[in-house]
Amino acid sequence: MSDKKMMNDMTSAMETKYSNLIVLKSNAVKSLHVNVRDKRSTHVEFKKFADRLMRVLAEEALAACTIEQATVWTPTGLEYSGMRPNANICAVSIVRAGDALLEQVIACEPAVSVGKILIQRDESTPDKRPVVYYSKLPPQMSKFDRILLLDPMLATGGSVKKAIELLLAAGIAQKNIVFANVLACPEGLKAIFEAYPEIHVVTTAIDPKLNESMYIVPGLGDYGDRYYNTT
Ligand code: URA
Repeated sequence: MSDKKMMNDMTSAMETKYSNLIVLKSNAVKSLHVNVRDKRSTHVEFKKFADRLMRVLAEEALAACTIEQATVWTPTGLEYSGMRPNANICAVSIVRAGDALLEQVIACEPAVSVGKILIQRDESTPDKRPVVYYSKLPPQMSKFDRILLLDPMLATGGSVKKAIELLLAAGIAQKNIVFANVLACPEGLKAIFEAYPEIHVVTTAIDPKLNESMYIVPGLGDYGDRYYNTT
């Protein structure tokens, strides 16, 4: 079986298994992935193509936050129906890489409120437990229609699960959380959907697995390091 067919089959299997999962499949997304994944891309090239990819993801994730159907009249005197863009959203980035995605969300919808969570692995614990170092969320989180949680890479799912735990403690219902992600893997999807089956995930691709260093493969390397030029 070709690699391309294997990836397509795996993505379809994940979509069948998890009904709240959206995987973007446009030609734009596929083409941007080529340059984002290319190890020869310089920092500036990586940032340029990652920003373009995240802009597409930001629009799709915002579309997943819509709640109201609307019909409008066009200048030609005819009707057009669709879901109305929703700005009653809190975008919560998981620092650091999530901030890059946050910029694209704000560029698309400047009215969003912003929250930030910093989570890091405690290397001294056997299971490298994720620890919350900083959390700043707006007051009355339950006033938002949707919470848009942002982290470009879904590897083991440890950080995202910890962030969701914080959001639930702040009074958010699982079904109102949309997690936007550039690249996922089956291990991470299993971890978050088993723990929180009602959340929604929008991603631009699913790769086959994690390697022994917990990197997604074939993947794209360390997203934060490549984006912020700290390799
Ligand atoms: N975080 C990254 O930046 N890359 C991976 O492959 C996994 C987690």
